[in-house]
Amino acid sequence: QKICLAYSGGLDTSCILAWLIEKGYDIVAFMADVGQEEDFEAARQKALKLGAVKVEIVDCKREFVEEMCFPAVQCNAIYENVYLLGTSLARPTICRAQIAVAQREGCFAVSHGCTGKGNDQIRFELGYYALQPSIKVIAPWRDPEFYKRFAGRNDLLDYAAQQGIPVSSTKAKPWSMDENLAHCSYEAGILEDPNTTPPEDMWKLTQDPRKAPDHPQDFTLYFEKGLPKKLVYDDNGSENTVTDSVDLFLACNAIARKNGVGRIDIVENRYIGLKSRGCYETPGLTCLRAAHMDLEGLVMDREVRALRDQFVTFNYAKILYNGMYFSPEREFLEDAIVSSQKRVNGAVRCRCYKGSFSVLGRWSDTEKLYDETESSMDTVVDFEPTDTSGFISVQAIRLKKYGKMKQEGGED
Ligand code: ARG
Ligand code: SIN
Repeated sequence: QKICLAYSGGLDTSCILAWLIEKGYDIVAFMADVGQEEDFEAARQKALKLGAVKVEIVDCKREFVEEMCFPAVQCNAIYENVYLLGTSLARPTICRAQIAVAQREGCFAVSHGCTGKGNDQIRFELGYYALQPSIKVIAPWRDPEFYKRFAGRNDLLDYAAQQGIPVSSTKAKPWSMDENLAHCSYEAGILEDPNTTPPEDMWKLTQDPRKAPDHPQDFTLYFEKGLPKKLVYDDNGSENTVTDSVDLFLACNAIARKNGVGRIDIVENRYIGLKSRGCYETPGLTCLRAAHMDLEGLVMDREVRALRDQFVTFNYAKILYNGMYFSPEREFLEDAIVSSQKRVNGAVRCRCYKGSFSVLGRWSDTEKLYDETESSMDTVVDFEPTDTSGFISVQAIRLKKYGKMKQEGGED
């Protein structure tokens, strides 16, 4: 009886691995490389030492960038106006890779180390069921046999000692983290008090904005159909051009990181109804999203943009956050995103400087919605000034009526 366990190499999933073996299962340990800083070989050795029959490490970086992060840029995805969804975006990619391993290895079940209070359990399990409806899911942190035995961290540590599970000597950080190519999240522990300022040494993906270079870094991002296609930047005097999607994402990360761009701190609403305080750093994605939104101002039709903002961006983010990625509604919205982006072609000149991202200018060689002559205050084309008088008179009909009614009725 084989189970494919999403393994991180940490204390929780190491104890889960040993516990599942103790219960008589064969364990295939699965690790997704979504760009997190990790000693994968050390984790592999640890899993094998604990008795995993196999360890599968899958490189998911390209799929993560191209299938998840770039569509998020295309629709300016954001949750509760602040969170760029770094963790939510990685889950579908990880689910897909884990289910593929489970199928290849003939596993009847998959397992994970998510707690029973969070979003991730929902995202993983809905993903598993959508991708393989017959799969069994083992969630130890919701299994009374497990959580009654391991009530706290000390129980896990005792079990680790008893099972010969090596516990990393570096003192555990007083918060929980989730890292990938797009972001790093920090939650729980000392951050649970929403009024505790995160310690300076918590942030690992970005420079402290106050210590960032005194010279701004400028770069240009090129988009085609709303997708990032090229990055041009100055690297110590020589011009660098990046076109590969993963390299482009990494280069944006490097620029933003060095200049302290992309830190946020929010109290968010989890899907299950609890509030949770989270800190996130999302260097490259912050720049890509902001540059993309700027370009839309130049090339996108007003009403398409308004409808997209009202119906697509909000719902796409909600679908991602709530773990509904493998759903008909996500496919439907994705068609709308692609359609809305047909003319989002052009480039944005950007600047990162001491924690801020700003736009220096933008242009499009192909899209002509914006016409300098037409918008200019100095010239008149295609319509007469008197035409606009009529436009205002008609718009005023209703407002005049309303104003008069208020004057006469004394109603405020
Ligand atoms: N609150 C964020 C989200 O739901 C981050 C979750 C972090 N997950 C983790 N396993 N540490 O997307
Ligand atoms: C967890 O509870 O496992 C992490 C946090 C979350 O999923 O929201």
